[in-house]
Amino acid sequence: MAEIGQDIAKAKSILELGGLVAIPTETVYGLAANGLNAQAVAKVFEAKQRPSFDPLILHVHSVGSAEQIVEKIPAEAITLAKHFWPGPLTMVLPKKGIVPDLVTSGLGSVAVRVPNHSLTNELLQTIGFPLAAPSANPFGYISPVTAQHVNDQLGDRVDYILDGGECSVGLESTIVSFLEEPKVLRLGGLSLEQIQQVIPSIKVNLHSSSQPTAPGMLESHYAPKKSIELKEAFNSNSTDDFFQIGALVFQHYMEEIPKENQFVLSPKGDINEAAQRLFTGLRDLDNNQNIKRILTEFVPEEGLGRAINDRLKRATA
Ligand code: TXA
Ligand code: MG
Repeated sequence: MAEIGQDIAKAKSILELGGLVAIPTETVYGLAANGLNAQAVAKVFEAKQRPSFDPLILHVHSVGSAEQIVEKIPAEAITLAKHFWPGPLTMVLPKKGIVPDLVTSGLGSVAVRVPNHSLTNELLQTIGFPLAAPSANPFGYISPVTAQHVNDQLGDRVDYILDGGECSVGLESTIVSFLEEPKVLRLGGLSLEQIQQVIPSIKVNLHSSSQPTAPGMLESHYAPKKSIELKEAFNSNSTDDFFQIGALVFQHYMEEIPKENQFVLSPKGDINEAAQRLFTGLRDLDNNQNIKRILTEFVPEEGLGRAINDRLKRATA
């Protein structure tokens, strides 16, 4: 198990030596390494068992520091940054030569984000390089939203876990590409409606396994180890004992299934609260010994509900 604490100086020295530190952000925890050091970045891929064709996000503390790793930032991207950085927005931009190919899986572009968490932002200010950080989970599994989640699965592969409490947003960042006209590649913690207020013409082009230049959005992802299916697809005549079925529901319990086997995302029907609790709910059900399989349902398709439903589609794929 890794040491967990709030020691920024310790995190800094580990990162400077090419080690791995798990960092809190407002979205999910990241598994961070010096993003300009290919050897350090290689450790991230290895720790996560992540295929090298899936590029990483570079985390920086300001637009100024983003300018050191990207060729140019178009006006619309600057506008988005003004509105939403620091925050759950990642922008894909043409990269500069100093960014190692391993970070970008050989693409000519790099994904950049200014996260919004006091500990991590302080860390980013004190180090002289961007942090390459994917979500701190084994590849394909549910993203971590507490230091304990990271420790449970990657504790023996990370040198230190910076503990910033529970993530306030709970969903990965929204990714917008500026390589051509602005286009959303991944729905996430910044809602489409918020982006549309700034760029009304924004396109949405969620990628999948059929589009290898935009990986990481593989169809089956964010998945618990147990079987998970949408309640519509569930055959209630099956021989399964209802006492062994769990449910991840939006606001109301499912009939027939024992309440203690259910995780209600938001009893008051608040989409943001549901987003914040989604990955904890999936983990709880996955770790509950009494449950063999999990049923779930979509939430309203608005605000962060789109991103929640996207994750549920991938979890049930
Ligand atoms: O909220 C987040 O974004 C978290 C925190 C830690 O910042 N990070 C995160 O990283 O979710 P990860 O690696 O799990 O997801 C990054 C996504 C992947 O789907 C990857 O394919 C995409 O970003 N990506 C990275 N670079 C890209 C690029 N140049 N072009 C297109 N997609 C890119
Ligand atoms: Mg991830």
